[in-house]
Amino acid sequence: MSTPSPAGPPAPAKIRLRHLQEAKTRGRPFSMLTAYDQFSAQVFEEAGIEVLLVGDSVGSTVLGHTTTTATTHQDMLTFTGAVTRSVHRPLVVSDLAFGTYEAGTAEALRHGVELVRAGAEAVKLEGGAEVAAQIRTLVTAGIPVMGHLGFTPQSVNALSGHRVQGRDEEAAQKLVDDALAVQDAGAFAVVLELVPAAVAARVTEALRVPTIGIGAGPHCDGQVLVWQDMAGLSGFHGKFVKAFADLRGDLQRAAAEYREEVVAGTYPGPEHSFD
Ligand code: KIV
Repeated sequence: MSTPSPAGPPAPAKIRLRHLQEAKTRGRPFSMLTAYDQFSAQVFEEAGIEVLLVGDSVGSTVLGHTTTTATTHQDMLTFTGAVTRSVHRPLVVSDLAFGTYEAGTAEALRHGVELVRAGAEAVKLEGGAEVAAQIRTLVTAGIPVMGHLGFTPQSVNALSGHRVQGRDEEAAQKLVDDALAVQDAGAFAVVLELVPAAVAARVTEALRVPTIGIGAGPHCDGQVLVWQDMAGLSGFHGKFVKAFADLRGDLQRAAAEYREEVVAGTYPGPEHSFD
């Protein structure tokens, strides 16, 4: 979808849900990255990333918390606004924060509506059959929903930390069943996080809608990474992460050089000064 060839369809000016569905049907993987601010979102749009996720990971990648459970709905509204004001082409999906949908459909709808008012084009929530009613309510109200299964960061404490999910047959079958429940409730895509590649392949095969993997192997319909991991800024080197740049090193070098020039009195020079 992001690499149109002379023989292929033209690249869409705006990514819609149907383009992700078409990508699955055609067997063309698509990309999703987290984004939380203006410049990173614009860079990812320029790079052709199809979906931007304003993830609740903003809590641990920007706001200095150790888990995403600290991220508030107000945080999500603020960062959703920053991203959606900055890009046009990618589909922008925002996370429903921990505690904003578990209690029932009315809560889910109220918070989903607020995210859409802030600019989100779809919302993501974590869980399987137990959140099917919330998904159905949001979808009925016209709010597209992305599911999230496998390791679900908002349940990090209940799951005893960051662990691969669905390793035994019972757990793998539950993942498939939950994915079907989420799809049947109306979700347009499902994130699979920290799941064995073979299990992710099984879920992807079972679903009509696209799966998007993070630590879930190559057989998902799309892939997602936290952008600071993808760009080598966070310094997180989990097995599933590939750092496509060394932003931390580049930024350190730039900052050190800037400091050296300030201390040495060589910056600012005449070319940076007003007459
Ligand atoms: O918040 C987030 O960044 C996410 C991704 C890990 C999928 O949910």
